[in-house]
Amino acid sequence: MPSLAVTLGELQLANPILSASGTFGHGLEMEQFAPPERLGGLVSKTVTLRPRPGNPAPRIHETEAGFLNSIGLENRGLETYLAETLPEVAGADTRIFCNIGGESPEEYARLAALLDERSEIDALEINLSCPNVQGGRLPFSTDPALAERCVRAVREATSKPIFAKLSPNVSRIAELAVAVEQGGADGITAVNTLLGMQVDWRSGKPGLATVMGGYSGQGIKPVALRCAWECVQAVSIPVLGCGGIADADDVLEFLAVGCAAVQVGTASFSDPGLLGHLAADLAARLEAAGLESIAQVRGSLERHLSAK
Ligand SMILES: Cc1cc2nc3c(=O)[nH]c(=O)nc-3n(C[C@H](O)[C@H](O)[C@H](O)COP(=O)(O)O)c2cc1C
Repeated sequence: MPSLAVTLGELQLANPILSASGTFGHGLEMEQFAPPERLGGLVSKTVTLRPRPGNPAPRIHETEAGFLNSIGLENRGLETYLAETLPEVAGADTRIFCNIGGESPEEYARLAALLDERSEIDALEINLSCPNVQGGRLPFSTDPALAERCVRAVREATSKPIFAKLSPNVSRIAELAVAVEQGGADGITAVNTLLGMQVDWRSGKPGLATVMGGYSGQGIKPVALRCAWECVQAVSIPVLGCGGIADADDVLEFLAVGCAAVQVGTASFSDPGLLGHLAADLAARLEAAGLESIAQVRGSLERHLSAK
């Protein structure tokens, strides 16, 4: 059986497949479809200091190749996460990533400090990039200096590994990648959703009540792959690819551009059992190709280009 184990800095994962934040329940709601021990890691929905009600409905709009959402970081806040969600997921035999969101570097740091005490959490993922708050403005993920400040504030507040989740809605994602690496991130998640919208031309009614929202799913895979590749080239910390991944071949494409691991989001909505068999599919795909480990695939694009 090919080896699927991966190392992200000091963190060992059984396989390179993680759930993407906000798409796999809060706790273990998806357990019956996809047992958590089959995943390399479980990423929480974004947790904020105080509860957030989220945006008005409609908040999801299906498109030809994925969907638009404007959930708006709805969550029950840190206190409930610590009291209810964390004890539930802590027993799962997988790595636990807590994804955090804030409105200032100080707020991110406060969250990180409070979570630092909880040994059940293996790593923090900093959501710098949700397009559904502040009217689609993305201050932390479009301004490298602010992104760096935010990561540095978190770095000073915790000794846990931190992963900065970037937005694809920028001209030069490599600059953001370098900024978060300088701020002390141990890894990068590339990427969050693309800003998008839909309108019914007859009525003028928008698909989302907020008009604009985050586009995710299969349609964004080429953009996400390009973003991941640009990040890989710009930094030396591990990059977790995310965007449009729906099967083992998609996972392997992200590994080929140099990602150390991947996250799967929207595909779990149409196939809730996907994450229950994706690692096994990956192993089967490697075996069929005569490969012994995913390390042989990782970075194959770079090797191909430099052999020319
Ligand atoms: C319904 C929904 C809710 C999401 N909520 C969050 C969230 O709370 N925090 C976050 O960092 N990303 C959130 N995301 C973004 C995903 O984690 C992921 O980055 C994005 O959807 C791209 O991956 P995909 O194409 O596999 O879905 C959400 C995405 C969707 C579709």
